[in-house]
Amino acid sequence: MENLTLSQVVDELKIHHNEPLTEDRQGETLVLDAAEPKNFNGRRFYIESYGCQMNFNDSEIVAAILQQDGFGMTRNYEEADLILLNTCSIREKAEDTIRKRLRVLNNVKHQRKDVLVGVLGCMAERLKTSLLEQERIVDIVVGPDAYRDLPNLVAKSEEGQKMVNVLLSREETYGDISPVRLDNNGVTAFVSIMRGCDNMCAFCVVPFTRGRERSRNAYSIVAEVQDLVNKGYKEVTLLGQNVDSYKWENPDTKEMVTFAGLLELVALVSPRLRVRFSTSHPKDMTDDVLHTMARYDNICKYIHLPVQSGSSAVLKAMNRTYDREWYLDRVAAIRRILPTCAISTDIIAGFCGETAENHAETLSIQDLVKYEMAYMFMYSERPGTLAARRYADDVPTEVKNQRLQQIIAQQNEHSLIRNQQDLGKVVCVLVEKPSKRSNDDLCGRSDQNKMVIFPRENYQIGDYVDVLVEHCTSASLRGKAIGLSNFGQ
Ligand code: SAH
Ligand code: SF4
Ligand code: F3S
Repeated sequence: MENLTLSQVVDELKIHHNEPLTEDRQGETLVLDAAEPKNFNGRRFYIESYGCQMNFNDSEIVAAILQQDGFGMTRNYEEADLILLNTCSIREKAEDTIRKRLRVLNNVKHQRKDVLVGVLGCMAERLKTSLLEQERIVDIVVGPDAYRDLPNLVAKSEEGQKMVNVLLSREETYGDISPVRLDNNGVTAFVSIMRGCDNMCAFCVVPFTRGRERSRNAYSIVAEVQDLVNKGYKEVTLLGQNVDSYKWENPDTKEMVTFAGLLELVALVSPRLRVRFSTSHPKDMTDDVLHTMARYDNICKYIHLPVQSGSSAVLKAMNRTYDREWYLDRVAAIRRILPTCAISTDIIAGFCGETAENHAETLSIQDLVKYEMAYMFMYSERPGTLAARRYADDVPTEVKNQRLQQIIAQQNEHSLIRNQQDLGKVVCVLVEKPSKRSNDDLCGRSDQNKMVIFPRENYQIGDYVDVLVEHCTSASLRGKAIGLSNFGQ
């Protein structure tokens, strides 16, 4: 595929994407994915993932690397020879959770001395060798760019050495590795399009744990998406810390692929494939991306656009490189170009130096945008970040918490208002799984990424179903199916 131009690749793909796959073949693929590898070496690994979607996708890459080396997979850590925790450092709480988990695993290690415990991911990268001193049960520490070295590290560790590889890379994208899908609903999948981050938001540990930003080969992305479609997947989410700065030069043609270009290539793989992406950065989100979204029905009209704060002064201290006006201009562009688009966000309460007035500005920007959904956090100082070095973490915890509660309460109202706007409408739902509450109900997401629940009848996981929305809460929509959707046909 490497010698074709990107538009030729797309033409190639168009030939294949309509080939139907029977239900039983989808099942087969999934079973094969999770089965013992042909070169099974008698040992099994177990992996648990924490943190962001990119970290979950990394676990799927780790699973592929280990399977290639002959490891079997197990979903029960008590029968594993190698227990891996893929960790997150984003807030102190995330690291506390991992330390608690390691306490639990201590018992396993007491019972079976030859079990190996590995810590992967951002906490491994942040703490490096000191993690071995702090957590004595850990045998292997591996950073996010060193997963290809895992088989070697495990082999050495089996001889009794503690092993660490936390080298960061400027090139590694794992582009050639086909991830083993671990959450296997067989319907939705994550596809990483880039790694690392070159921004230096003052509060954020990610540039330190994930290294420099690099974009993955566009061909390998399109090929992975095509492979997912062949296996019956119906939705992909393209992942990067800042997808808008995706940039890859085709070495053959010197053609530069931007995020808007990549989005188009992925959308063209199949009109029946839903395409999502995360995360957009307000400073880099171009109208070009919005126009591409407008052109393709299968690119979901949903944007996660983290604001962090509504105050220009706080945004400046955060080094977010945009201000309140710039952010609101981007929201206006979304409303203009994509009138039905849902917007969600991330908000941090109580960043260093945040005054009551600054906080009021966050509440007011929430009110102006009326986000469909938000992830809301109390500021947590991370060692080594710009904020930790430059500023005092001077907002008392009670005040941070009070502000956070206000932000959450307001968001709940807005989510409810946004969901009420869907009452009486028909939304197209991609069915993902049975509902948590009742096996007689199915649930899935609307184009706008809202969770929709409806009675199962004879609908199947993976169907696109038109649902008439009859009830809602701030968290979900509920309705009744009116038929299979002709989405993309
Ligand atoms: N790349 C994404 C964010 C990744 S981290 C972006 O730029 O938007 C996900 C979210 O965690 C951030 O958006 C931020 O809201 C939150 N976060 C990051 N560091 C934090 C910290 N030190 N304390 C509290 N929340 C934090
Ligand atoms: Fe962190 Fe900022 Fe990079 Fe997002 S853009 S990962 S918040 S440094
Ligand atoms: Fe956490 Fe690392 Fe993701 S710190 S949020 S797992 S990039």
